[in-house]
Amino acid sequence: MNICIIGAGHVGLVTGACFADLGHRVTCLDNNRQKIQSLKRGAIPIYEPGLEELAHRNSRLGRLRFSDKFAESVNEAEVIFIAVGTPPKETGEADLTYVENVARQIATAMRSYKLVVEKSTVPVETGEWIKRTIQAYKKRQVPFDVGSNPEFLREGSAVQDFMHPDRIVIGVESQRAKNLLMELYKPLKVPIVVTDIKSAELIKHASNSFLATKISFINAIAMICEQVGADVLKVSEGMGMDRRIGPSFLSAGVGYGGSCFPKDIDAFIHIAGKSGYDFQLLKAVREINEAQKRRLVQKIEKALWILNDKTIGVLGLAFKPDTDDMRNAPAIDIIAMLQQAGAKVKAYDPQAIPLAKTLLKDVQFCQAPYEVARRSDALVVLTEWNEFKELDFVRIKKLLRQPVVADGRNIYDPKKLEQLGFRYIGVGR
Ligand code: UGA
Repeated sequence: MNICIIGAGHVGLVTGACFADLGHRVTCLDNNRQKIQSLKRGAIPIYEPGLEELAHRNSRLGRLRFSDKFAESVNEAEVIFIAVGTPPKETGEADLTYVENVARQIATAMRSYKLVVEKSTVPVETGEWIKRTIQAYKKRQVPFDVGSNPEFLREGSAVQDFMHPDRIVIGVESQRAKNLLMELYKPLKVPIVVTDIKSAELIKHASNSFLATKISFINAIAMICEQVGADVLKVSEGMGMDRRIGPSFLSAGVGYGGSCFPKDIDAFIHIAGKSGYDFQLLKAVREINEAQKRRLVQKIEKALWILNDKTIGVLGLAFKPDTDDMRNAPAIDIIAMLQQAGAKVKAYDPQAIPLAKTLLKDVQFCQAPYEVARRSDALVVLTEWNEFKELDFVRIKKLLRQPVVADGRNIYDPKKLEQLGFRYIGVGR
């Protein structure tokens, strides 16, 4: 099948390369000419395991192309995916300017039937608006359909998630659109949920909100564990064994970050409010997430008495391991709070330092965890990179000024560290 993907960002590139690998002919379209030129030369602007290889192979085979020619690319395809950005406005509401713009451009360009599918995370009813926009701006009497096909890819395992999803969600209004999307995904052989467009849009909101709720729930339990002297790791293990609950997304820590959860939760609260429902549960999820960061700083302060003039060594800056992405990373807020209290911050991350240098002020960046520990008053883990799990704590103890470890991701054994003479600060244990 001939597909056009509009927006060569994280979602667009992964979706494009994967569809090409399934045997479809894909054009990734973007209005950033420079980006398209470098993609044509084979430079993939994001780090995603397996993506580069996939993109190169399918480009060589002629199944994946990159273009900045809108009308031409749109008209060569039967199915068009919109994967442009939906950045948040100050109110938390998603800004749909790019989506609307693309819908108008499609309307003016299209010369034959098109199925226009929203792939970006968009508020419910966006499909409806895309339909109205195309109807209003289309130049020729050609039929079209609109569909919703939300993505559930995680950063760092996006290719794997695309190829082996738990489910595919398709929101359509016609048999023709349903057939096209079913055909597109046929090679994957996974369960497909077919529904109306609004329900498909809501599945995405509801799924991300539920996952964030799981995280805040276990973080709230962690708070209680600390008060009563229980171990949140055991509590989540025991809960997760119940198949109705499941073990994933029950790791307590410094809270969720990234380009999706914080933004999506804000947007869903906004959408719910607009529809007349005050989503207090999600507001609490958001508040617990913010509190987790403050609580860790308070615990470090308690261990050091006064933060002013102390040096804090931070391990991990990315919002999760195996990425250099720092969007809404808990490290950003935690470092700001430490600095506000007068502390100096040293930091190391295996991938995120180049980006961190552009985002964080007055931080001394180091080449290795041991350099971070040298003459610091406490060592704080904010991302659970594998290389932090294997540190030599006998060496760390000699390097630190005070033997304080704040383990914001619960990756160490408190007993082992306490035996070595550390003051261990975990989350919920
Ligand atoms: C998330 C969803 O998992 C994807 O399904 C979805 O497609 C994507 O958002 C999106 O909407 O585009 P992602 O943001 O890449 O994916 O990251 P996750 O792996 O879900 O992690 C999100 C945050 O939650 C991270 O900061 C992570 O450290 C935190 N987390 C996760 C916890 O604190 N505890 C957990 O148990 C799990």
